[in-house]
Amino acid sequence: MGRSFARRCLERVTPYAPGKPIEEVQRELGLSRVIKLASNENPLGPSPKALQAIQRALANLNRYPDSHCFFLVRKLSEAWGLSPEHFLVGNGSDELITLAVRAFLDPGDEVVIAQPTFLIYSIAAEIAGAKIRGVPLKRFRYDLIGMRKAITRRTKLVFIANPDNPTGTYVTQAEVESFMAALPEETIVFFDEAYAEMVDAPDYPECKRYLLEGRPVIVTRTFSKAYGLSGIRVGYGVAPVELMTAMQRVREPFNVNSLAQAAALAALEDREHLEATRRLLREEKPVVYRALEELGLEAVPSAANFILFHVGPRALELVKGLMARGIIVREMTAWNLPEYVRVTIGLPEENRAFIQALREELKR
Ligand SMILES: Cc1ncc(COP(=O)(O)O)c(C=O)c1O
Repeated sequence: MGRSFARRCLERVTPYAPGKPIEEVQRELGLSRVIKLASNENPLGPSPKALQAIQRALANLNRYPDSHCFFLVRKLSEAWGLSPEHFLVGNGSDELITLAVRAFLDPGDEVVIAQPTFLIYSIAAEIAGAKIRGVPLKRFRYDLIGMRKAITRRTKLVFIANPDNPTGTYVTQAEVESFMAALPEETIVFFDEAYAEMVDAPDYPECKRYLLEGRPVIVTRTFSKAYGLSGIRVGYGVAPVELMTAMQRVREPFNVNSLAQAAALAALEDREHLEATRRLLREEKPVVYRALEELGLEAVPSAANFILFHVGPRALELVKGLMARGIIVREMTAWNLPEYVRVTIGLPEENRAFIQALREELKR
């Protein structure tokens, strides 16, 4: 076909490049074991309670899921102390990003996005034909002062990943407070808190206060990370009712499948699994940091379950070398950080295997 049928704004969209399935890497390389430390997943697996809930829900797969995720929303509403109308559950928290863009951005509207950060914000904004104002990170941290300066009266949305991916850094309560102090009325702030449950920092902001004040903010959380349910796709957003009403209008009626709803509800009740996840990070993150330091690799301080570290011009080669040894980590060219690598904290033995392989690869 000689002509393009696609909307013109799609020419600017670089599709998200996910990693290969573990089984495929294993088959290609002829390895008996592959360790995946590339997608910030929970190495402990899903909560056993979530698995049992999925088993129970299987028998009802002939029925459509509950469109409003009644039981899950009721539970979230109790946990947050906000009425159910403040919540919207999505097919992963990714969907909340897409829904916000669909609900609030007209072509030509401006969006402020850090550079680099989680890739889906700019992909979604480009698809909507919005104008992106990129604000560079400062020493791998969000520059909220710079982002505030980039906001104009045409800015409808600002995305803040807190903690950020791929850096793992977070913005503090004080920084967020100054940022929020003087925003134009028409600007919505989207706090993406995908890794919030893993953060161990007293100055990590509590954004619920802005919801209670009725400010135009959207806070998102996910079951993909701390709760170990990436594969089933479920996350949620909390926002003032007026914003939620618009987002509800643009979603598909059955956007969250019934297994996901059951799993998320059970996972919320499994405090033990969440605590085990937090414990693993407390114990293992320092082990990986120490090893990187010993190897002379500079690493960014992370509040999440992954670490971004500097390798140099050989980064891509290193990623390939690790892959050949059955260890998958993330190369960073899509983020324009070609000299860096991101590694997810795994189980103790996985981290040791990573460190050992890294040591050997660096000697080559
Ligand atoms: C910052 C951030 N936000 C959102 C997501 C999306 O998570 P999900 O759609 O699985 O909830 C991720 C996943 O990697 C992320 O790193």
